[in-house]
Amino acid sequence: MSKKSEVQFECSVCGVKLSKWAGKCPSCAAWSSIVEIEVKGEARGIGAMSMPQNIDSKPMFLSQVPTEHAKRLSTANSEFDRTLGGGLAPGSLVLLGGDPGIGKSTLVLQTLSAMAAAGCKTLYVSGEESAAQVKLRAERLGAAGSDMLLFCETSLNKILENAEQIKPQVMVIDSIQTMYSEELPGTPGSVSQLRECALKLMVYAKSSGVITILIGHVTKDGQIAGPRILEHMVDTVAYFEGDKKGQYRILRTVKNRFGATDEIGVFEMSSLGLIPVQNPSRVFLQDGELSPGSAVSCTIEGSRAMLFEIQALVGKSSYAMPQRVSAGVEQKKLTIILALLERFAKLQISNFDVFVSVAGGLRLDDPGIDLSLACAIVSNALNKSLPHRSIVIGELGLSGEIRTVSSLDLRIKEAHRLGFEKIVVPASGKIPSVKGVEVIKFARLEEATRWLSA
Ligand SMILES: Nc1ncnc2c1ncn2[C@@H]1O[C@H](COP(=O)(O)OP(=O)(O)OP(=O)(O)O)[C@@H](O)[C@H]1O
Ligand SMILES: [Mg+2]
Repeated sequence: MSKKSEVQFECSVCGVKLSKWAGKCPSCAAWSSIVEIEVKGEARGIGAMSMPQNIDSKPMFLSQVPTEHAKRLSTANSEFDRTLGGGLAPGSLVLLGGDPGIGKSTLVLQTLSAMAAAGCKTLYVSGEESAAQVKLRAERLGAAGSDMLLFCETSLNKILENAEQIKPQVMVIDSIQTMYSEELPGTPGSVSQLRECALKLMVYAKSSGVITILIGHVTKDGQIAGPRILEHMVDTVAYFEGDKKGQYRILRTVKNRFGATDEIGVFEMSSLGLIPVQNPSRVFLQDGELSPGSAVSCTIEGSRAMLFEIQALVGKSSYAMPQRVSAGVEQKKLTIILALLERFAKLQISNFDVFVSVAGGLRLDDPGIDLSLACAIVSNALNKSLPHRSIVIGELGLSGEIRTVSSLDLRIKEAHRLGFEKIVVPASGKIPSVKGVEVIKFARLEEATRWLSA
């Protein structure tokens, strides 16, 4: 097969390949984003780019593959360890994403300094900040005297050369969008540069066993800026969630080859950096009586049950189209629950604005919270509080039935641990008996709303 060079074009926003130049990308509609790239021989897919030739790639019997009992490396931060599935797996490549200013650099700087203090060789590569700026942050975090190695550089070749000499156990690249490889055209952050840099780092991590953490910027809709391929290449992807202006930050794994996904770590942002929150159920709940429109429920995030408060506000609308606004739960879920309430609970709210929010900036997609959302709306519409120390758990089906939820026993135990005395649960669930807890079972939505209005 011929290996002659040919010219191709690529969109620097979405990465689509084209045979000729265009002013507007036919795939993502971005203007002036098409750039020329040179392709040698056959079109290069990710696998064809630069996989190292020195990796022994002979087929072998699975039974003969030596078992690696390499221990995970602790990040000296309980919540970060939990998110990663019990620490950093040797040779793993972790992608850490989040909005600007949410605390990505803070978390890695804290982590690397703590690991260095525990005798681990760590290298922090910053392509965004100068050494003086990093030092300033380290002073604020109380880590200025750390033995962590700092390298402010954006050339990937230089970074890899230095890493080969230093041989760190953990290396952080802050951020992957600022790195560039000399062999490729395109500015740092372009799709081809991102892909090449991430691939080189992946090859380096896998062949040397160095744990590599990549920091990635996210776009407006919350994806890592660049091709999705970045997420496929790495072993673990974790995103920071939560309100940047709020006190709490949530780190959630969306992919993990070495642990459960959807595991979350909860941190409190303080002047000393991100402090792990040991008992998240407590921080997302308020003490005292529930006000009309508030309901408490329990969600399962990864392996942990967590209590939270959901609030609703129902008011007469002055718009032709009543407003339905949700924060922390999907808008679609709110629309469905309102339709169910109209149909089965005979709640006339089609002319009312409805606002719902999960306190503390949590984002939830657990179906087990449906009934609590419905109860919060009814409670506000009737101006009647839910009973003191009560908690509501259940998923709603489209015919108004309350369906059972996963890990019901775990949720009930967590509620009991935090002193809740009344628990509304689906009638069909297998309910463990817990001393001092009144379990109220409902099979249908209208039974629950009748109980609320009684
Ligand atoms: N003195 C302080 N006290 C409390 N919080 C602070 C203080 N200084 C900075 N912060 C917090 O640290 C955050 C900056 O975090 P950091 O620089 O780690 O974010 P980042 O995710 O790396 O952002 P970027 O994507 O821009 O690099 C600020 O948004 C602020 O909330
Ligand atoms: Mg940063």
